[in-house]
Amino acid sequence: MAYLSTDKVEHHFHDVVIIGSGGAGMRCALQLADAGHRVAIITKVLPTRSHTVAAQGGINASLGNIDSDHWHWHMYDTVKGSDYLGDQDAIEYMCRAAPLLVRELEHQGVPFSRLDNGRIYQRPFGGQSREFGEGGQAARTCAAADRTGHAILHSMYQQNLRAKTHFYQEFFALDLITDDEGCQGVMAWDIAKGEYHLFQAKAVILATGGAGRVFKVTTNAHICTGDGGALALDAGLPMEDMEFFQFHPTGIADVGPLITEAVRGEGGYLLNSEGERFMERYAPTARDLASRDVVSRAIAQELRDGRGCGLNKDHVLLKLDHLGKELIMSKLPNIHELALRFANVDCTRDPIPVQPTAHYTMGGIPTNRFGEVVYNKGRSKEGVFPGLYAIGEAACVSVHGANRLGGNSLLEIVVFGRACGNQVMKRLREHRYHPQLDTESWQSGVERVERWLSAATENRQGPGIADIRLRMQTIMQDHFSVYRTEDVMSEGVQHIEALAAEMEHAVISDANRLFNTELIEAMELENLMSLARVTAAGALARKESRGAHARDDYPERDDEHWMQHTLASIQKNKVKLAYKPVRTKPMTVESFPPRKRVY
Ligand code: SIN
Repeated sequence: MAYLSTDKVEHHFHDVVIIGSGGAGMRCALQLADAGHRVAIITKVLPTRSHTVAAQGGINASLGNIDSDHWHWHMYDTVKGSDYLGDQDAIEYMCRAAPLLVRELEHQGVPFSRLDNGRIYQRPFGGQSREFGEGGQAARTCAAADRTGHAILHSMYQQNLRAKTHFYQEFFALDLITDDEGCQGVMAWDIAKGEYHLFQAKAVILATGGAGRVFKVTTNAHICTGDGGALALDAGLPMEDMEFFQFHPTGIADVGPLITEAVRGEGGYLLNSEGERFMERYAPTARDLASRDVVSRAIAQELRDGRGCGLNKDHVLLKLDHLGKELIMSKLPNIHELALRFANVDCTRDPIPVQPTAHYTMGGIPTNRFGEVVYNKGRSKEGVFPGLYAIGEAACVSVHGANRLGGNSLLEIVVFGRACGNQVMKRLREHRYHPQLDTESWQSGVERVERWLSAATENRQGPGIADIRLRMQTIMQDHFSVYRTEDVMSEGVQHIEALAAEMEHAVISDANRLFNTELIEAMELENLMSLARVTAAGALARKESRGAHARDDYPERDDEHWMQHTLASIQKNKVKLAYKPVRTKPMTVESFPPRKRVY
């Protein structure tokens, strides 16, 4: 067994270590660094390549720049959108904070698009209404053309450089250092130099984004491998509601890249092979701007009924040429470029072939609305895991419940990034010193790397990483897609469990320590596999249809038995499921009780 002594590891001391340099991690870092704390961000990529950069359509806030709006209407839409699985205290907190934080982003340098009167441009997005669904469509999504995530990420990075946040880029987090007192730090691998680094911190924040790469066709970048969730599972913590995986209705057919909902917000619409605007049948009022789960299911149903387009009848068409070249090139320039590059379509003239595509991990590491990681402590109590926090797509706070509204993810990262920063400051007041760590505490991180490298050095034979990854993604795509059934899912669970067992014999062929990308892919696959296992088990167990979890065999929502969150952990290498109630009580207003969801 590999053993690394103190002199072989570079030891860093920070007040706070944040793993992940997307919008959530950077917003949180800014809050803490501006308050004078010693903050480190560990990221496996260059910070501005984090996946927030890919968020297109915008960020929701009830600014009311186009028409009257109110945070309470935003809250109503979000609770309804979540299919009543979202926690209403967290949703109220987020929707109330949104206007303030979007204006703050403006002051931090985000170049929002403008209305003629100089105010921030807002566009309609799916599932948005006014006056609790009675006042028609809202236009609540604040946008920087169709590159809003890009604009936010770059502004956050520059603000963090000003605030002197320490960036450890191209570092891969291997293992959380935990003891009876909670989380003490993280062991990491310097990808370029092939060296171990031990980070000790009074607070560790997981801001590692989603795990879209468990699926084969996804809008997610190759880096979206759920690393924080896997670290939490490894530390014995559960993941919450992982069965709720959002399929964005309009990924480019076959290849996956996102075609933003903003296209439909600006007036684009979907057509089937008969040239019919089929959304009128599924959502008579909101039509193409119904919530994402509704639109994705409608497309899947059209394909099942043989009204798909193309030779394989496997996609529908997104028409936007009628919007005119000027609007497309000013409000949707990125879409124009993506359609050209990935579908060879000039969308100012022809429709874009699209299909539902894995997009967003609505589940994640369970937290309260302060970003503290929580776990079930007995039947009805919740405990906080000291020193460990999670934010952004890596976390499940849960503001999205069973279905996220477009534009609420960029909002979540800034709202809870900031809230978590404020909560961490309270801990820092009470925890002033770093404890002495036992050398044993970092050996499992070392073991993780050395196991792969020794297989390569000894030229051991076994299944390769690319092969296992493709098989995992194919199982998830075929067995846990938009529509689900008992038979198909239970076969999927068996296949995933068998593949996870096979993974224990997997090998890599590159034994080099410097910039060994095969090694990184192997560890990313370990992370994905853990998340695929809990996703599959949670989905099979949930016997109802709710939001993104649509079962043919249980087509109705079952509030009596299933208005609860799934908690899935891996104990002694077996997936274990537990449940906890939804927090239906908001902070200050009345609860929105579950109602039938129509758009
Ligand atoms: C989109 O622009 O459609 C994606 C934005 C989001 O997922 O919130």
